[in-house]
Amino acid sequence: MHIIRTAHEMQALRRAMHGRVGAVYTMGALHEGHLALVAAARHAHDHVIASIFVNPTQFAAGEDFDKYPRDEQRDLELFAAAGVEAVFMPSPAEVYPTGFQTTIRLSGVTQGLEGARRPGHFDGVATVVAKLFNATSPHAAFFGQKDAQQVAVVRRMARDLNFPVDIVVVPTLRESDGLAMSSRNRYLTPAQRAAAAVVPRAMRAAVAAYGAGERETARLLELVRREISAEPLASLDYVSLNDPSTLLPSLDRLDGPALLSLTVQVGATHLLDNCLLPDSLNTQDGLTAVLGA
Ligand code: PAF
Repeated sequence: MHIIRTAHEMQALRRAMHGRVGAVYTMGALHEGHLALVAAARHAHDHVIASIFVNPTQFAAGEDFDKYPRDEQRDLELFAAAGVEAVFMPSPAEVYPTGFQTTIRLSGVTQGLEGARRPGHFDGVATVVAKLFNATSPHAAFFGQKDAQQVAVVRRMARDLNFPVDIVVVPTLRESDGLAMSSRNRYLTPAQRAAAAVVPRAMRAAVAAYGAGERETARLLELVRREISAEPLASLDYVSLNDPSTLLPSLDRLDGPALLSLTVQVGATHLLDNCLLPDSLNTQDGLTAVLGA
């Protein structure tokens, strides 16, 4: 497996690759969810390029940039075993050299949800993903469903700036109690970890009600709020139903697919989760068609 430190070398290696190239971009601290992205990329591509870069510009002051888990050796072993051909691991100075002045900022799609809770976060994401696209020039890039707004932002940017990249969305991988896999789950104490199961439980309550025919947005959101409020260690940041492509808030009564998303604080950790309604859309094809194509 090639380990590449500069964009220039990455572009040279990419030019030497023939056939279809899939890319998986990460901040390391890999878990099975990341490896599912690699597996999906390998499935349809001749070469898989991955990246590891903890991007400082998508963390606000006071967020967890300094304590974000880093274990390069383990990550490289996992990528090699998963069949990744090249890992792009630039330094912060390589990505943001002295004099760097460019920021990609999207409007509508970044305004609500995580964008409202973390101002500036998606400027950092969009800018670094554009740089990763330019360094790796993949035919397709694979993103996890868990960061659904990130997918919407990246897709919008790819369309607006004519990046010739397909955005593929891979369903969230879950622990046995339903908690979405995340590098940040390791911040949870055992008691907080047990309490965190309320997040998927609350989501499932809304999914079940939708499956039973409930279409009133307020009632579906209330089901989620009620579940979360029953867990003393959890507090709801927000729960929302949105149009999955524009991310505008859903109408009072759902009349098409909707993105249910929530962020819940447990201890100091904010746990994100989401799903599409109807539940039948939460497959790679369904998610890619609605969120990523
Ligand atoms: O999802 C992530 O890990 C990051 O936001 C990404 C896409 C690698 C950009 O830094």
